Amino acid sequence: MTHSLYGRNLLSLFDLSDAELHDLLESAAELKQRQQRRIPHRVLDGYSLAMIFEKPSTRTRVGFEVAMTQLGGHAVYLSPRDTQLGRGETVADTARVLSRMCDGIMARVFEHSTLEELAAVSTVPVINGLSDLLHPVQALADLLTMREHFGSLKGLTVAYVGDSNNISNSWLEAAPRFGVNFRLGTPASCGVERAVLQPALEAAQRAGTTITITDDPYAAVAGADVLYTDVWTSMGQQEDPAHLAALAPFQINAALVAAAAPSAQVMHCLPMHRGEEISAEIAEGSNNLIFDQAENRLHMHKAILAALLGGVALTRSVRRAA
Ligand code: CP
Ligand code: NVA
Repeated sequence: MTHSLYGRNLLSLFDLSDAELHDLLESAAELKQRQQRRIPHRVLDGYSLAMIFEKPSTRTRVGFEVAMTQLGGHAVYLSPRDTQLGRGETVADTARVLSRMCDGIMARVFEHSTLEELAAVSTVPVINGLSDLLHPVQALADLLTMREHFGSLKGLTVAYVGDSNNISNSWLEAAPRFGVNFRLGTPASCGVERAVLQPALEAAQRAGTTITITDDPYAAVAGADVLYTDVWTSMGQQEDPAHLAALAPFQINAALVAAAAPSAQVMHCLPMHRGEEISAEIAEGSNNLIFDQAENRLHMHKAILAALLGGVALTRSVRRAA
């Protein structure tokens, strides 16, 4: 049976149906078990993934490269410094060439529109490995991590406190699709991307979940199951003292954690800056899922690659391609 995600792109979580999103979580859990039990799962034997990186990366690069190796395939790392992209070859021409040689393209880009340009001409799946707007593969790995810890996702409340950015945007998209309530605690000066917020609010209404936006960090975290944060200056942004000062009350520290549910877990997509968005004490504390999130990037990448590049169905819940 061919997976319904075969040949498709993953630029935003809204590219996928609820059933497909849930299936990726199931597949990632299945692949994690197979790896832990050393059961071979070389379902992409002989496949190649081109990986375009306009920005640095540790988890995304290693997570996709190791994923391809464990699935029996190969990943090619491409930085603009080393390719003709850095000398003016167009994104479209690059996508045409990579489509002739590789089975998929994963790209980390400054502008989300570059991903759309790639996807418009690529004849193989394009996967968003982070843009200025979204980081969907991170949110999926986060959800897998939460499901492992809490048992189920429905009804949980995630409070993201800090800069309104690609991570909080992908969380706005993800939360309602999995029955999770989402609170965004961010200074008014950070704003929220309307193009992401509107469809997220509509999805929340359909799902019966809540999305709350507040500039009060304590209101954001009150009784929450998860406290999530990310860096205050994202890649490609200039450090701005006024921005950092506005964010100071949003640091995840002992006082903020005390306002959440007693069993609350701290999450961070990494890399983290201790003393900025998270205190060193909380970063080193035991009530966090941070490195489980990082590991789960690998398992989630494998599920995504198996489905999109290979059309491989790993679970019984998968649907036939239309
Ligand atoms: N969380 C994340 O995407 O990490 P990298 O920037 O190291 O890939
Ligand atoms: N918001 C961060 C996420 C890093 C994984 C950035 O874009 O730099």
